[in-house]
Amino acid sequence: MVTKQKIKEALKRVKDPELNKSIIDLQMVKDIHIADGQVRLTVALTTLRCPMKQKIVADVKQAIEEIPGVSGAEVELTAMSREELNRLFPKHPLMGIKKVKRFIAVASGKGGVGKTTVAINVALALSREGLKVGLLDADVYGPSIPVMMGISQRPESEHGMVVPLEKFDLKIMSFGFFLDENNPLIWRGHLVGRAIKQFLDDVMWGDLDYLVVDLPPGTGDPSITIAQCIPSALLIVVTTPQEVALADVKKAINMFKNMKIAILGIVENMSYFQCAHSEEKIAIFGQGGGEKLARQMDIPLLGAIPIDMELRRGGDKGKPLMIDVPDSETGKVFKEIARRVSSMKHGVHP
Ligand SMILES: Nc1ncnc2c1ncn2[C@@H]1O[C@H](COP(=O)(O)OP(=O)(O)O)[C@@H](O)[C@H]1O
Ligand SMILES: [Mg+2]
Repeated sequence: MVTKQKIKEALKRVKDPELNKSIIDLQMVKDIHIADGQVRLTVALTTLRCPMKQKIVADVKQAIEEIPGVSGAEVELTAMSREELNRLFPKHPLMGIKKVKRFIAVASGKGGVGKTTVAINVALALSREGLKVGLLDADVYGPSIPVMMGISQRPESEHGMVVPLEKFDLKIMSFGFFLDENNPLIWRGHLVGRAIKQFLDDVMWGDLDYLVVDLPPGTGDPSITIAQCIPSALLIVVTTPQEVALADVKKAINMFKNMKIAILGIVENMSYFQCAHSEEKIAIFGQGGGEKLARQMDIPLLGAIPIDMELRRGGDKGKPLMIDVPDSETGKVFKEIARRVSSMKHGVHP
């Protein structure tokens, strides 16, 4: 008679080609059903993207069909659960954010103030200091890091974990890598929470000094959910010097304070325009707004970034200013911001 025991014995000879161990020892075989010599079972793979899955199915079928009394075998594939993976790779050193020392979350009151530009160039400036830096694009409304960093490929998966892409010495993940331009996803509250947890826990971030997170703009649900998921995040708030922008920023800062998130400081973007033909700094969006806000809210002003065509151009062509012209005036401002950030061990606590 065909028994589960006989099936397991037969399958002991079948190995996972990648891990080179028996699929029985790896506890990958589940739900064995036997009815009139017909065998049905499930094999849980580390990832369904496993390129060897057809071979595993063929090996399993062959091993079972060689058992006397078996008339046929049906094999179903699933992916291992997180718990099963953890059991298999209990001390995976690169998994998730266990080895990330600090988190910087970049926020803004409203969109279009240069939040992503600041996140990218501050991350690159930190990396130039010899620090290991990751960049997570968590802007569910407008994930623009792939375009601004010139990345078009999708990350690959290994042992059920996503391997971040690497460019300009940064490890990079973006919601944008998983979006279909023609079918935009609408992220509802609880889905955002789950997605961001995956971007933190299921990615091989490895050993990092800083993970810089580009948050969605504003004080909506996704920003709150995401900020709450990031362990002891240090916040950088980006604003332009305009009164209207400052009002939104105040609201955002108060919200983050209420959430007990420590604030590193404010970055004023598009502060002035330096005309190439004179020394004069032209305050297109008004003057001193960031400074006033910093004073009012008792938060450091980390830096003031000018309106610079190179910044816009860098974003459009996928080669950031800190890569193209790091020694420019604007580059120096980013380096100074990075220097301040890396010297601050704690944020201002509300
Ligand atoms: N200081 C600046 N000088 C010139 N262009 C800038 C500056 N900051 C941002 N930009 C440009 O403005 C646009 C919006 O910036 P972005 O970083 O995408 O804003 P956000 O992430 O807040 O929506 C981009 O095209 C960017 O290249
Ligand atoms: Mg952005």
